[in-house]
Amino acid sequence: MLPYFCAMQKDTQVFDLINKELERQRNGIELIASENFTSLQVMQAMGSVPTNKYAEGYPGKRFYGGCEVIDEIETLAIERLKKIFNASWANVQPHSGAQANTAVFLACLKPGDKILGLDLSMGGHLTHGSPANFSGKNYQALFYGVKKETGTVDYDHLEATAQKEKPKMIICGASAYSRDWDYKRIREVADSIGALVLADIAHPAGLIAKGLLNDPFEYCHIVSSTTHKTLRGPRGGIIMMRNDFDNPFGVKDPKGNIRPMSALLDLAVFPGMQGGPLEHVIAAKAVAFGEILTDDYTRYAQQIIQNAQAMAKAFVSKGYDLISGGTDNHLMLIDLRNKNLTGKKAQETLDKAHITLNKNAVPFDDKSPFITSGIRVGVPAITTRGLKQEHMQTIVDMIDTVLTNAGDDQKIGVVKNDVHEFMKDFPLYPELEVKETAMA
Ligand SMILES: Cc1ncc(COP(=O)(O)O)c(C=O)c1O
Repeated sequence: MLPYFCAMQKDTQVFDLINKELERQRNGIELIASENFTSLQVMQAMGSVPTNKYAEGYPGKRFYGGCEVIDEIETLAIERLKKIFNASWANVQPHSGAQANTAVFLACLKPGDKILGLDLSMGGHLTHGSPANFSGKNYQALFYGVKKETGTVDYDHLEATAQKEKPKMIICGASAYSRDWDYKRIREVADSIGALVLADIAHPAGLIAKGLLNDPFEYCHIVSSTTHKTLRGPRGGIIMMRNDFDNPFGVKDPKGNIRPMSALLDLAVFPGMQGGPLEHVIAAKAVAFGEILTDDYTRYAQQIIQNAQAMAKAFVSKGYDLISGGTDNHLMLIDLRNKNLTGKKAQETLDKAHITLNKNAVPFDDKSPFITSGIRVGVPAITTRGLKQEHMQTIVDMIDTVLTNAGDDQKIGVVKNDVHEFMKDFPLYPELEVKETAMA
């Protein structure tokens, strides 16, 4: 049993499973673009006493007594987050990225209003208007896509759709898009029709934080994100603005007053959409934000870009078809049709070798979302483990061996052992391993 978890554990059934999951994470190569490994102090904050506290409301304006320390924690998280992105306002309470987007819609739109987002099948996210999601059920969703020839966002199509349909909000940001965004152009389109722009930076937030990608805050009215991807914090959501503004559609608060967007967004999160905030998670967000403000994290973000570049190059050299030909950020989307493989088959086969990634639709995919023609590959998690650009070829070689021997369980078993050996040089939570050795 691992020491970090054994101090207070009595429910061995659950903690045995948690330890089993720790071993899985330790042994494998984690390439899911939306995952990462938080620091131990982030996890410790998450598993701490603020979970006991009800704190509906905001710092200084709570509906419960005894919130004076919680207020300090939440204020610290807000101030650190504002500093990271040079923002003037932030809300750290959304329980997840989807909740953050829900709150933005609730604050800015009325049911039935038109929204324009990147098509899910082209790399967009469920919450940007998918019919399966609240965003597609409560609002009239329109979509733009990527160009077939280049795999990059079709801004002309975006502009033409916006001019014709006049959506109230244009959403930029994606779950599976490897290129940077032209926020300036999107804002110009939005201004020409009086629309708002929401940038959902859930994926590349950590790279934006360090100025390694275009700055959405300069042009987008509202910015939402998750905290658990490149930001390397606990699972959660955030909403931010660099400049507050008067809401343009006359949306009123529950008392019938027209209020600035920051007030409407706060009201949309609580009481609009959530009850008590998860203050233990907010404490963990504050810890992660403190880490992001360090030079160590700056080096981490730079290394993500270097690793993604090196990995993309290694895939291309082995004949893999990368959508858009490469990457500007932390991920790449690979069309496997020239390898006669589906995304589903690739994911399942790589799983056997303990290389974890996800199947993903590629633009203009002819297969269902349950099968897909592609895979999405991301480097934030392996970069946290300490892998550098010179290791990317080794990983691509292992992936290629598995995929070209998809029916050969013996060969895949050999790669699995190689994966375990390889990852021993990049310990996950080395602090724990020292304690384990001492205890043995
Ligand atoms: C662009 C984007 N927005 C929002 C979300 C939703 O985040 P969560 O899973 O925390 O609800 C994701 C998650 O993958 C995402 O990629």
